[in-house]
Amino acid sequence: MPELFSWQFAADPYPTYHRLRERTPVHRTTLPSGVEAWLVTRYADARQALADQRLSKNPLRHSENAHGKGKVGIPGERSAGLMTHLLNIDPPDHTRLRRLVSKAFTPRRVAEFAPRVQQLTDRLIDGFAGRGEADLIHEFAFPLPIYAICDMLGVPAEDQDDFRDWAGMMIRHDLPDGRRTPRGGVARAVKRMRAYLAELIHRKREALAGDSGADDLISGLIRASDHGEHLTENEAAAMAFILLFAGFETTVNLIGNGAHALLRHPAQRELFQRAVHDGDEALLAGAVEELLRYDGPVEMATWRFATEPLTLGGARIAEGDPVLVVLAAADRDPARFHDPDTLDLTRRDNQHLGYGHGIHYCLGAPLARLEAQTALATLLRRLPDLRPAVEPDQLRWRGGLIMRGLRTLPVRFTPE
Ligand code: HEM
Repeated sequence: MPELFSWQFAADPYPTYHRLRERTPVHRTTLPSGVEAWLVTRYADARQALADQRLSKNPLRHSENAHGKGKVGIPGERSAGLMTHLLNIDPPDHTRLRRLVSKAFTPRRVAEFAPRVQQLTDRLIDGFAGRGEADLIHEFAFPLPIYAICDMLGVPAEDQDDFRDWAGMMIRHDLPDGRRTPRGGVARAVKRMRAYLAELIHRKREALAGDSGADDLISGLIRASDHGEHLTENEAAAMAFILLFAGFETTVNLIGNGAHALLRHPAQRELFQRAVHDGDEALLAGAVEELLRYDGPVEMATWRFATEPLTLGGARIAEGDPVLVVLAAADRDPARFHDPDTLDLTRRDNQHLGYGHGIHYCLGAPLARLEAQTALATLLRRLPDLRPAVEPDQLRWRGGLIMRGLRTLPVRFTPE
């Protein structure tokens, strides 16, 4: 069995997860950062843990005696003063902030955004469609979500490439020229983004006061009120930051992993392409859910910290211990999913945990679904003979294991 967190494991973690689930379903391990944590791998335990109020999302609850105080959570968020966001807080603060953001980030806003996502998707494909080859990660899956969320937030077009670069740094995305994010680059990028967001929020607040406000999401966040309460400037900045951060790498990887899975399963890909041709929206929507279950982007980015001693899946967890729910393992649990290692785009009863569960259930799920479905359907409609340009063993997966995604996905096709 490959060592946990090695690159061989990253290439195909699922056999290891099957073994862990059978032998030590709640497994104590040392993460590459040096932090000791529990990994939860069974579906039933995972669902229970995600909704268990004794498990806090607040990293400050992390016991100080473990090695890694300061090493949990999003890099740089602490020093940039961006800690007060949904993924770091518990009720009642979480309830208040989630209610406020839900007034601005509505399913209706997402539905109205569909033509813009289609336009962005086509523009990106236009960039490589005439060439007959492309890297689907750098040229497609990576830029689409960042431009989409920038547009939705109301970041002016001329600033969006800065955002793309900061976001790339933040997730240590390899730069197109082969460079990696330099040391300290993540914290610097978070700081720059924070300063930019503070100024943007300030400008939008002034525009709203002067009655020339726009209908973008940041203006919506500033306007949102609940029983007379509003977001403070700090809270609005942390909210914009988390919408960007939580909605970016996840969607990149859903598009990348999803395209990869379709290209490697010809019968399923044919089914998908037929649904695109027939306009079978129900099949396409179900297909995106199955791609998320089968090889989802969030492997273990589900930190929680025990606020009291508790027992989970037979393991005794001490107060302050970090717990990581391994969604990728839970969603391949044979006790919950029939034939879990088979990609079946017509799967029914597919209540996967890819978007989490409970009060922290993904706020951006409607946007993620819209982007992934538009991206994959448009790609296979416009480039119907799209095929991988390298063998599976030549692909490199990004390490880290908090997220699961490819570094590159080279493809070939008949030029448009
Ligand atoms: C929360 C997955 C896209 C915003 C979550 C959680 C998961 C998740 C698993 C729960 C984490 C936990 O319980 O610890 C995904 C996946 C996506 C995606 C797989 C794409 C395929 C997005 C997008 C946005 C977004 C596009 C926004 C633009 C959020 C926010 C939270 C969240 C704000 C925190 C909600 C809360 O704590 O109340 N997401 N996400 N996500 N997601 Fe997503």
